[in-house]
Amino acid sequence: MTRLIVLANAAAAGETGADLIEAAVAADPALVLGVATGSSPLGIWAALARRRLDVSRVSAFALDEYLGLPPDHPESYRAVVARDIIRPLGLDPARVRTPDAQGDPEAAARDYEAAIVDAGGVDLQVLGIGRNGHIGFNEPGSSLAAPTHVAELSAETRRDNARYFSSLEDMPTRCITQGIGTILRARRLVLIALGEAKAQAVAAAIDGPVTSSLPASALQLHPDATVLVDPAAASCLARHRVAS
Ligand code: GLP
Repeated sequence: MTRLIVLANAAAAGETGADLIEAAVAADPALVLGVATGSSPLGIWAALARRRLDVSRVSAFALDEYLGLPPDHPESYRAVVARDIIRPLGLDPARVRTPDAQGDPEAAARDYEAAIVDAGGVDLQVLGIGRNGHIGFNEPGSSLAAPTHVAELSAETRRDNARYFSSLEDMPTRCITQGIGTILRARRLVLIALGEAKAQAVAAAIDGPVTSSLPASALQLHPDATVLVDPAAASCLARHRVAS
């Protein structure tokens, strides 16, 4: 069942996400955390950093990685995860993994899926959502059962994420992403969505049919999924959902 929590603002949503992770680390200091890039979870990472938790035994897996960038590119998710998550939280870099974008991508995707299984699976996966309803880089039309795989980025996602690159031409066209099957195997999911631009995707994900054309609707198949939204991101939801 999807649990919806509407918070007063983005900062409160970040604090609530941090509360969930703090409680999970307290219960299991060797937690396997699934981390997400993007602007939406930044408040969670900032709130967690302020709490100075002992995360020395926590390990983490990123959701996805671009293909085709040089290894030292500042917008590779390897670099973004180091900058926005590993350093502020004080995670051990040796325990944090992103898909390897420099070798054979198909082999890297298989290795990544195997590494998650070897780690015992992800305990708590943080997710953002794209305006088109993507999770990770699982674009509309993706299999709801796929493991980590090589994927093409949609034109909409390339336009949305081009802001991080000097031009649309510099924006990658392909990626390695955990599949929706991988994401659904995490024991707990916490999706955070902020702002009006996400409102329709959030409503479709929570109230609409489970469909590969709206990948985040797969959360409805998960037994322990929490969706954190601010009022703007909640604005297209059925009224009874927001009130409950
Ligand atoms: C990227 C990431 C997704 C993320 C999405 C939304 O495409 N691969 O994991 O959810 O961006 O980003 P933002 O939170 O910045 O809107």
